[in-house]
Amino acid sequence: MLVSSAMLSDPFPAYARLRQEAPIAWSPRWNAWIVSRYADVDVSLRDKENLSNENRQALLFDDMAPEQREALAKLRHYYAQKDVIGSDPPDHTRMRGLVQKAFTPRTVASLQPRVETLAREMVEAAVAQGEFDFVADVAHPLPVVLIAELLGAPPEDRHLFKRWSSDILGFQGSGRTAFASALTSQQSLTELFTYMTTLIEDRRKNPREDLISVLAAAEENGARLSRDELLATCNTLLTAGHETTTNLIGNLLRELLADPAHWEAIRAQPRLIPNAIEESLRLDAPKQRNFRRIKRAHSFGGVDLPADQMIFQLIGSANRDPDVFTNPDRFELERSNARDHLSFGAGMHFCLGAGLARSEATAVLTRLIEAAPQLRLSGRPNTWQERAQFRGPGAVWVRVK
Ligand code: HEM
Repeated sequence: MLVSSAMLSDPFPAYARLRQEAPIAWSPRWNAWIVSRYADVDVSLRDKENLSNENRQALLFDDMAPEQREALAKLRHYYAQKDVIGSDPPDHTRMRGLVQKAFTPRTVASLQPRVETLAREMVEAAVAQGEFDFVADVAHPLPVVLIAELLGAPPEDRHLFKRWSSDILGFQGSGRTAFASALTSQQSLTELFTYMTTLIEDRRKNPREDLISVLAAAEENGARLSRDELLATCNTLLTAGHETTTNLIGNLLRELLADPAHWEAIRAQPRLIPNAIEESLRLDAPKQRNFRRIKRAHSFGGVDLPADQMIFQLIGSANRDPDVFTNPDRFELERSNARDHLSFGAGMHFCLGAGLARSEATAVLTRLIEAAPQLRLSGRPNTWQERAQFRGPGAVWVRVK
């Protein structure tokens, strides 16, 4: 049930059953524990005593045949490295301190003109077609172009980043791993690292105004990022910042156009845009599941959790918990506590790119309202992405009039 294609388009009835009947449950299909209530997901995301992000992916390869594990040696090696998201204190504190320099409110504000320009160019080119797939023309390219630029890659290489970021994450999503998609992930990761190594060498010699130069030169308490940590951090920035933001922008527009009254309201009152973004993040968490490794056996909510197993926090379910959100399955433009969603995580790993993602969504929506005030769903079938841990449309076909 929890891994079927019906789950991709509508996981919410299954989540509701879990919250009611088995809020902390072992899933043999996922090979993992699943936590589904808001209060438990919140505590679990913040639990640094019992849970760990370090080497959490190692458990994904446990079930494989020895020759498959051997063929994936590089991928396993990569996931054994620490980076900002794949580490616990004290390494996490050091690395987050470094990466955070690139995401201060001031740095994000300085990116704003670039976000605006890209959003305007992409929206105008799309609108000129009359009918277009919003995901392919705007929601997908905007975040990847921004991250590729942030990492210092020239524009002609953007298509590489697009492919790499989709491939790399493809094999994750439950505790059971498909060998073929893990192999694809390994191939793309190797290509990304080769590419980034050349770029890093260049920036060490000729620093520029980009994130790679900052990270390559950065020192925190005298400790630089090692080469492995730096490469792993580049991968995290690419993968953490791309599909999630594509999904946010795609979900937001799909939801606003699904009910013409919503589009009309947002058009008439653009002050509602920030809350519409939070409500979309709540209703359709772009990243539905987060996971950690249990590092210490402990009891949680009356359930005994053994060490060295995986635990998935169902963010998508927590965000629809009726104990916290009234009418949780409804999109309400003026919901007062929409911002309490857990879509950006909680605790020490709270998303560093939240401000950037919000500013991308704001820029796109603002430009769309101006350029295509009569925007409608065009009636062509819209699909869901076949990605287990994410929620976002594969296509949103729209018509300008
Ligand atoms: C709507 C878009 C986004 C969503 C839903 C999202 C979601 C998340 C979540 C749930 C976490 C916590 C992971 C954990 O606890 O293990 C996280 C962490 C992170 N995100 Fe995002 N993210 C988004 C956009 C971005 C962007 C645009 C960037 C950067 C370009 C980014 C960079 C990061 C980083 C570096 C971390 C790790 C922070 C740490 O471990 O201290 N994210 N994100």
